[in-house]
Amino acid sequence: MRFDILTIFPESLPGLLSVGIIGQAQEAGQIEVHIHDLRDFTDDPHRAVDDRPYGGGAGMVMKVEPFVRGIEAIRPECGPNTRTVLLSPQGRLLRQRDAQRWAALDGLILLCGRYEGIDERILHFVDEEISIGDYVLTGGETAAAIVVEATARMTPGVVGRFDSIESDSFYDEEKRLGAPQYTRPPVFRGLAVPEVLQAGDHARIKAYREAEAWKKTARNRPDLLGLDLEETTGDG
Ligand code: ADE
Repeated sequence: MRFDILTIFPESLPGLLSVGIIGQAQEAGQIEVHIHDLRDFTDDPHRAVDDRPYGGGAGMVMKVEPFVRGIEAIRPECGPNTRTVLLSPQGRLLRQRDAQRWAALDGLILLCGRYEGIDERILHFVDEEISIGDYVLTGGETAAAIVVEATARMTPGVVGRFDSIESDSFYDEEKRLGAPQYTRPPVFRGLAVPEVLQAGDHARIKAYREAEAWKKTARNRPDLLGLDLEETTGDG
């Protein structure tokens, strides 16, 4: 699978995406990540990517032309089954099932906005507008890295053992979180690893993990269980 990222900060992404499983997947040729400098698709001497907002207001708005020229330059390099995704805080919330759906594609073209966002006409040139959460970042680059990570690890062969994906938080129809995990030492500052995990009875371990996963979901994400739709602030 191929990822193309359009950004004014091309230097910001390779570090994060060249390590660990995502880095190995690139080395093994399972995924390709191409990072493009949005300014290469400008046509003025100043390589301007932003301008003042129509109607007034603070800040600058990203121009639509460099993004569209970029998409049109990249598109012929991509397979027929490629989608263009705009990262923005106004988008639909990213879900695990999006990563699963995208992992079956030939590619994703990811557009990173900055400043006060991109000229709204960009929506005529993208397939999806996605937000990674209800908070505002300074730009779409970290969001694009998250989309690459989440999608690449669902691409066949990228994560070695499929059961490690199946036990993930959200894999189970996004209804529950993953179970707590432990490793050595067996006791750390008086905190012991649960006995059942050390005893080697696989049926009991499975049941224990299942129960703990549900408990953790009820505690941290009651909304997933339809238990409590009140906001949990995390400070109580
Ligand atoms: N750009 C700025 N904030 C964002 C968010 N929450 N999700 C995706 N892109 C963004």
